Amino acid sequence: MLRFFPQKDKYIKEAAEHPFDAALPVPKHIAIIMDGNGRWAQNRRLPRVAGHKEGMETVKKITTHASRLGVNVLTLYAFSTENWKRPNEEVDYLMQLPVDFFDTFVPELIKENVKVHVMGFTESLPVHTQEAVRNAIEQTKGNTGMVLNFALNYGSRAEMLQAVQSLYKEISVESEQPEITEEMIDQHLMTGFLPADLRDPELVIRTSGEERISNFLLWQIAYSELFFTKALWPDFDPVLLEDAIGSFQQRNRRFGGLKPKEEEE
Ligand code: FPP
Repeated sequence: MLRFFPQKDKYIKEAAEHPFDAALPVPKHIAIIMDGNGRWAQNRRLPRVAGHKEGMETVKKITTHASRLGVNVLTLYAFSTENWKRPNEEVDYLMQLPVDFFDTFVPELIKENVKVHVMGFTESLPVHTQEAVRNAIEQTKGNTGMVLNFALNYGSRAEMLQAVQSLYKEISVESEQPEITEEMIDQHLMTGFLPADLRDPELVIRTSGEERISNFLLWQIAYSELFFTKALWPDFDPVLLEDAIGSFQQRNRRFGGLKPKEEEE
């Protein structure tokens, strides 16, 4: 099906073979690789940072919509440990975005009962970014609805390395032949702050047509459903989020086992 977005400058072709069904469960944890801001800007002959600014507006719309749909955790990949390689000007802009985002959006987050969390190597972020993040966490800490979890200066391999190192430190003092379990690794990852049944995303979405994971939640996505859309992140919207969830609702999740019908046979 072709959908025309009058406010945007092109058609986005999306397979609408998976209509969202409000009566079916939505994924408890959705993680999104927000890609395509630069291309969105370049298509309009704008500087790349204009794409990031528009991308921030998309974050607001998707956060509100996901919260209203009943999603428990929304994890957004906002800045990777590899993104420091970008030109200084762009990195500076990306480090200012959380400040602008929380400055303008915390009242709405409070209204929506959304709780902010940030996972990543936050100690290496500029002081003003750290402060914005800290304030937003503090201002929303009493909220009991959806967790809005920003991955900021996040990289999955570094996360796993840190988890194993901290685990090793903990257990090597207790025992000479320490036993390591999956649950222990799970708890030491940056998603360990979540209840165990919410740590792994059920659905991972990547925008912009790229079909790769880019060092995002490598442990946690072992059984996640993946959804790739050609829409550039600034063009992503609540309708496309529902498309992605519709696709998830049609999938047959077996976690390595058999679907119930096959079990009977
Ligand atoms: C990838 O697009 C996007 C990023 C590296 C930044 C993501 C940031 C936002 C969506 C802004 C919102 C952030 C907060 C904290 C509210 P790209 O630049 O790699 O795009 P390209 O592949 O088209 O060049």
